[in-house]
Amino acid sequence: MEGSPSFGALECLRIKQLEEQASAFRNSVICAFNQLLDLKDLNTGVHSTRLAEWGMRVGQELGLEEAVLQNLEIAALLHDIGKVGIPDAILRKPGRLDTAEYELMKKHSEYGWAVLRMLPGFERAALDILHHHESFDGRGYPAGLKENEIPIVSRIVCVIDAFDAMVSSRPYRQGLPYEEAVRRLTEASGTQFDPVVVQCFLSFAQAEMATVFAAAGTSVSSAL
Ligand SMILES: [Fe+2]
Repeated sequence: MEGSPSFGALECLRIKQLEEQASAFRNSVICAFNQLLDLKDLNTGVHSTRLAEWGMRVGQELGLEEAVLQNLEIAALLHDIGKVGIPDAILRKPGRLDTAEYELMKKHSEYGWAVLRMLPGFERAALDILHHHESFDGRGYPAGLKENEIPIVSRIVCVIDAFDAMVSSRPYRQGLPYEEAVRRLTEASGTQFDPVVVQCFLSFAQAEMATVFAAAGTSVSSAL
């Protein structure tokens, strides 16, 4: 059986090469789509990078497997890629959307899934993106899934996306102070949000806020 070790070593080398190719492809796709998001709305790029950092932190603290963490990173970075298909008049409308506009805006999670599922290696992340607006109590969209029916990656993206949106300033409104965002997140824990994810995120959120508020241009004094 002299040949076996070298055959095994060759196999290992081949697997390693394939893994590296897959990882390089993954990173290229993420970069390309991120550039597309930047072209559509400059804020989204910063927002998505921050979500990826927070999401990975929550995922690691919850003990998710490496493969799930990889999907989490993709889903956090590209969760709103489907907004490319939403008209600018709706995306950039200051103030509240009317019912018809909101119904169209809700399509972005399906649009994101429809695009990403076509890419080899992105099928799982595409499903996680499809469900990133589900609500823990089943009142979200598009499928009305609830609790553990919602993929864990989607539940994580949902919490950190909502929190980031609350504290970020927009051209037409100032971001909420940190304490108010925490209050709203806690209030909706168990209804809109997975309470385990909320608890995990809040366990490290405050320490992260100085950077976030500096980037978002929101008052740091009200945050810390
Ligand atoms: Fe979204």
